[in-house]
Amino acid sequence: MDLDLEGKAQELAEAWHGPQGATSSQPALLMVSGLPGTGKSYLSRILAERLPAVVVSSDNVRKSLFPAPAYTADESAVTHRLCRMVVAKLLSRGANVIYDATNLVERQREAIYHLADKAEARLVLVRLTAPEEVVRQRLAQRQECRDAWDRSDAGWEVYQAMRRGAADGGRFQRNVIVVDTSQDLEPAIAKIVRVTRHSGVRRV
Ligand SMILES: Nc1ncnc2c1ncn2[C@@H]1O[C@H](COP(=O)(O)OP(=O)(O)OP(=O)(O)O)[C@@H](O)[C@H]1O
Ligand SMILES: [Mg+2]
Repeated sequence: MDLDLEGKAQELAEAWHGPQGATSSQPALLMVSGLPGTGKSYLSRILAERLPAVVVSSDNVRKSLFPAPAYTADESAVTHRLCRMVVAKLLSRGANVIYDATNLVERQREAIYHLADKAEARLVLVRLTAPEEVVRQRLAQRQECRDAWDRSDAGWEVYQAMRRGAADGGRFQRNVIVVDTSQDLEPAIAKIVRVTRHSGVRRV
């Protein structure tokens, strides 16, 4: 496929940030990670209002390229590449960015740390969890009736397959804020907003 990724990244960054979106002198990049159904998109929407920040969701980016995705390795590679380009463009405009993707593998996360370092953005790492039974119910509910903002197609089988490949490690393990989304979210939201506004993680 002949894709103009640069043009597409510019188009998405402008659409999501707006021509005159809010800016700050040192933007933050908040990476939200977790298995399907752990509540990444749900929490990202809330955080985007509180911070404020622009959400770059890998599901939205994927569907902007592939309206009927096949979830092949090639499709995922180009989706993640475009995600990184949009994140970089938004940070360079001074926008706070929430990157909403599973981000389960340290090698993929390293590309995001690199983006934050290059943009001199504060980096905040969040990993969402929820008890397996809660996730199973959420994903079953998704098949029945999907929230309007939810662009994911992942179900229970995808959750089980991805769980096998998930791994903490490196910079992630040392700095991540872990949130159980089956509990009251307010204390976690308050902590993430505080950390995002004031510090971010140490550089290594
Ligand atoms: N904290 C929560 N309280 C109540 N319901 C929640 C919560 N978090 C998520 N949900 C519900 O669970 C479902 C899955 O959540 P969400 O779409 O945010 O998961 P996700 O991690 O983004 O999954 P995916 O990786 O497939 O995109 C949604 O229907 C959502 O409304
Ligand atoms: Mg999601």
